[in-house]
Amino acid sequence: MSAPPAAADVKACCAAAYDGDAVALLLGASYHPGGLALTRRLATTVGLRPGQRVLDVASGPGTTALLLATEFAVSVDGVDLGDASLRKATAAAQAAGLGDRVLFHRGDAERLPFPAASFDAVVCECAFCTFPGKPAAASEFARVLRPGGRAGITDVTIAPGGLPGDLAGLAGWVACLADARPADAYAALLGGAGLTVTAVEEHDEALGRMVDQIDARLRVLRMSGGRNQALAGVDIERALELTGQAARAVAAGVAGYTMLVAEKPSSVPPRGDGRRGHRAGGSRAAGRC
Ligand SMILES: C[S@@+](CC[C@H](N)C(=O)[O-])C[C@H]1O[C@@H](n2cnc3c(N)ncnc32)[C@H](O)[C@@H]1O
Repeated sequence: MSAPPAAADVKACCAAAYDGDAVALLLGASYHPGGLALTRRLATTVGLRPGQRVLDVASGPGTTALLLATEFAVSVDGVDLGDASLRKATAAAQAAGLGDRVLFHRGDAERLPFPAASFDAVVCECAFCTFPGKPAAASEFARVLRPGGRAGITDVTIAPGGLPGDLAGLAGWVACLADARPADAYAALLGGAGLTVTAVEEHDEALGRMVDQIDARLRVLRMSGGRNQALAGVDIERALELTGQAARAVAAGVAGYTMLVAEKPSSVPPRGDGRRGHRAGGSRAAGRC
């Protein structure tokens, strides 16, 4: 088996890929399966209330942050590593007249640039799976939550046994597949950070719909000769191969999509107290951006 890619390469590749216009062209306004409907479901399950302060980890284009601020009357800080995404998100917040309530910051999910206990809720959509240091990110979610606060993630799941070879490379990391875990491994990671999992919901069909949408858009773009500026540097044939593999993984029940919500206890037990959960195993992927 080839060596896993370096953590710094994974983060840089992911941020660069989601900074590009091709992703917006293929995915639309929000960069996760289930779109805005699943964001609303996540916010409702987390139990957001007006006036609360929410952190959106890996905020991408800022669509989730704007929805939460508009429909749930919360203030939101988004954090991401992609400079273009941060600029786009900030411009969208200002254009929506929400520049005072929705702010975006450059930062790494594994080292969040916020003090302890500063948020009522943390959300993270379709990104936890890409973090090379998942236990560190889970610990950061727990650290920045106030006691009694909740973290909600939605993410790609992969059944034990894993993925076909091509999707295990760096392209697979960027596509949120290569280091995705089974839902119970995510639950264990959150539990290992001292959070108590309160809800787990399968949304596998949302991943299938997203893969179909990407495939259909790629085929339309191929028919137009791939002349769209946003696709400069994108190998459409290769992208279609990967999309086909992803579609087969979804159809075979290997890949899915899950929502998990977990709560920080009101009184925090000392660390290393044998809480349930374990740290999931090491990375499996190797390849190039
Ligand atoms: C699939 S997109 C999801 C974006 C957004 N959550 C959404 O659902 O629309 C993944 C995002 O994670 C960001 N990202 C990847 N690794 C990160 C890290 N270590 N810290 C912060 N953001 C990261 C990428 O820049 C990208 O914007």
